[in-house]
Amino acid sequence: MLNFSILVDGALVDSDEKISVMNPTTNTVAGTLPLFEPKALVDTALAAANEAYIDWKVTSPKERIDLLLKVKELFLQHQEELADILVLEIAKSKKDSLTEIVRTCEYIDATIESYNEIMANPLIIDENTHHIKGKTGIFSREPLGVVVAIAPFNYPFNLLMAKLAPALVAGNTVVYKPASQGSLIGARVSQLFHEAGFPKGVVNCVVGSGRSIGDLLVEDGRVAMISFTGSDTVGLRIAEKAKGIPLVLEMGGKDPAIVMEDANLELAANEIIKGGFSYNGQRCTAIKRVFVHKSVHDELVKLLVEKVQKLSVGLPQDNAFITPLISNKAADFVQGLVDDAIAEGAVCLTEMKRERNLMWPMLVDQVTVDMDLAWEEPFGPVIPVITYDDLTICVENVNASKYGLQASVFTEDMVKAEEVANLIEAGTVNINRSSSRGPDIFPFSGVKNSGLGVQGIKDALISMTRVKGIVFNK
Ligand code: G3H
Repeated sequence: MLNFSILVDGALVDSDEKISVMNPTTNTVAGTLPLFEPKALVDTALAAANEAYIDWKVTSPKERIDLLLKVKELFLQHQEELADILVLEIAKSKKDSLTEIVRTCEYIDATIESYNEIMANPLIIDENTHHIKGKTGIFSREPLGVVVAIAPFNYPFNLLMAKLAPALVAGNTVVYKPASQGSLIGARVSQLFHEAGFPKGVVNCVVGSGRSIGDLLVEDGRVAMISFTGSDTVGLRIAEKAKGIPLVLEMGGKDPAIVMEDANLELAANEIIKGGFSYNGQRCTAIKRVFVHKSVHDELVKLLVEKVQKLSVGLPQDNAFITPLISNKAADFVQGLVDDAIAEGAVCLTEMKRERNLMWPMLVDQVTVDMDLAWEEPFGPVIPVITYDDLTICVENVNASKYGLQASVFTEDMVKAEEVANLIEAGTVNINRSSSRGPDIFPFSGVKNSGLGVQGIKDALISMTRVKGIVFNK
């Protein structure tokens, strides 16, 4: 069993009292972490980050970059171990866990590249660029201060580092809170930051329940910025509590895939399967509802059923495609949505099988907009299929969701595709591909309950810095 200390105020700290992190595959304890009194822990971490900011913000970018590259090297050296922790605490397949580690290391490189680009090119406004006489304004970006990063369980390494890398390279200090399941990797990451030699207080990890730790973190006056990924319930609560603190929130989604009458159905089916069932649908960008034109419904559904039946179901360490959900409670929620839809007339076209929190992938047809399954985010392996006749009504239903993260449109007609994309209320619309955050250099945002602010490599840097102008006068 794993037992990790956490990095707070420059030291790896442990305690006799422990927090247990469950292994969703075995329903046994995967590891433990130190349990501290929440108020004292948060206070120590924020005080340390606040103090460290004074020196860290004036270190040379080269120093900060070298340290980030050092920790990235440690991540790469430990990639097998880190991936095994993901397998253990979030039941992500070993293959996808390794991909997450490597993708994140590339993300760090790209963040450094973008930082150099942004910092190397401050905005200069002078007589040559504008009609202002006798003034030269140089506008560069400076850090904000202490950044609080709150990461979710589904990408506990990637979405943590997607916050930490831009924050740190830009000269901010950080206090981060991993999701409860995701805390083992979060703690291990903090140890590697320590090993890389980050100065005291620059990186601090706090663990504990969201309720106890989260509120204390987001309400504290020493916090300069909050970057959160998780549910809309928690995200909106943070927005309420963090009065005036700049926020970037990535929350839920109910990403639709619209399959039009002229779509390449084989392509659409492959993308829907990948988009709907990767990591068991536990992705904010997962395809969570399919709108199919009635003329191609039967053919699409036939293809989808064939493909669902080929998905392997089993253990993350065996690289099964479908693995146990994060908890039995999560599986109960999915089950409830599907059962209710079936009671109201929907039909599950695939085998409905469940062993505790391991759920076989479900394709649920004849879903209507009267059913919760058409609106709620299951965060599980279920794709509801809604048939449409009139594209205008279909788009109305797409936009009636409280979410607006991403969407997919499948058609061979690019003019129509763009027209529909322009009507959809979402951060990004993907033509002939499933929704997805990557490539990571793309801006990533959501509308309505899906998010606030923009992420993605460049935009994260922008959100964690502010413009500083120096104006020279003749
Ligand atoms: O779960 C939320 C993630 O931002 C989705 O990322 O599209 O790379 O799976 P992804």
